[in-house]
Amino acid sequence: MHSENESAASDSEMAVSKPVGSLSKKKFLAGIYEPISEDLAEVDRLLVEELKRDVPWMESLLSHTNISGGKRMRPALVLFSGICCGEINPQHHQLGAALEMIHTASLVHDDVLDHAEQRRHVATVNSRWDNKTSVLLGDYLFTHAFHIASKSDSLMALKRLSIASNRVCEGEMRQNAWSGDFEITEASYLDMVGQKTAELCSCACYCGAHFSGADEVTSERFGDFGQNLGVAFQIVDDILDLVGDAQTVGKTLGTDLKNRKPTLPIIHGLTQAVPALRQEMVQVLKAEEPDSQRVMDWLLDSGSLGYANGVARVYAEKAAGFANQLSSGDGSRALKVMAEFVLERTY
Ligand code: IPE
Ligand code: IPE
Ligand code: MG
Ligand code: MG
Repeated sequence: MHSENESAASDSEMAVSKPVGSLSKKKFLAGIYEPISEDLAEVDRLLVEELKRDVPWMESLLSHTNISGGKRMRPALVLFSGICCGEINPQHHQLGAALEMIHTASLVHDDVLDHAEQRRHVATVNSRWDNKTSVLLGDYLFTHAFHIASKSDSLMALKRLSIASNRVCEGEMRQNAWSGDFEITEASYLDMVGQKTAELCSCACYCGAHFSGADEVTSERFGDFGQNLGVAFQIVDDILDLVGDAQTVGKTLGTDLKNRKPTLPIIHGLTQAVPALRQEMVQVLKAEEPDSQRVMDWLLDSGSLGYANGVARVYAEKAAGFANQLSSGDGSRALKVMAEFVLERTY
């Protein structure tokens, strides 16, 4: 499928120029997902049907997780990695549904941690009901995901999924423990992001390739692609939390500042600041209600948003470099576009 002799794509080969924001969300993603549209519909069907059949009384609660209303990036990564390596089979659909459900569970819990009110354009479970309901629903979705994954009869997939989910939780726990800690380094931040966000993307790509018959080395390389993509995705998410448009994104923004998270732009700004400015900004960041205008002015002055974007680009380009080495086809083309999308996205 690809050989070590094939030359790696140079950075300049990757043109990250798609004006994602100028296209409607649905249309842009539908375009990327066109080659997998039927398989993605099957993943959606599994998600909706599984939950409806098992717990019909939960319907209104589940509608607030908008289970098929997200970007469905993780199932898409399973499917695209799968078509890069061979045929799609029911295991891809089951794993895609399980990953999307774990991702959704983590968001239901994350919205409690972040006191968020909107998610996927609807009220969060914690704001529409309460935190208790979110904790229980998140647990329900987490466990149900493993129920779906077990239908794939793949011990390997269950192992990967368990490890990845565990790392998502570990990443969220580390980040929670860092609230208000502005000594956190860029290396620690990247490691945490690698856990809380990139692990699921990596698991998606590894399993997608494996289920289509790829050997271990190839599957691991797909896993690395997902890991790099996921890190870029989260860095951009942290930038969007500061400068995004809430209506476009469809979720509550500005929560990172309110929850005193040391995200990459903040970490960079603080490392650049002279001691007096650093002291001032740490005070602003630790305030009960951080002055977001002051923070934005400072981050723009120190070039920290651009810096964070540059780090995201490095990861996205590593991912694109791998996709460029694959033999041409719908799958590799889509993985390349995904690597552009994570960087340019406005939602
Ligand atoms: C949001 O993920 C949480 C992060 C990892 C940043 P997505 O942006 O993929 O969420 P949905 O699934 O599209 O709602
Ligand atoms: C959380 O990151 C990602 C998870 C693993 C749940 P964020 O807190 O940045 O995600 P959003 O911005 O709420 O979607
Ligand atoms: Mg959040
Ligand atoms: Mg965020």
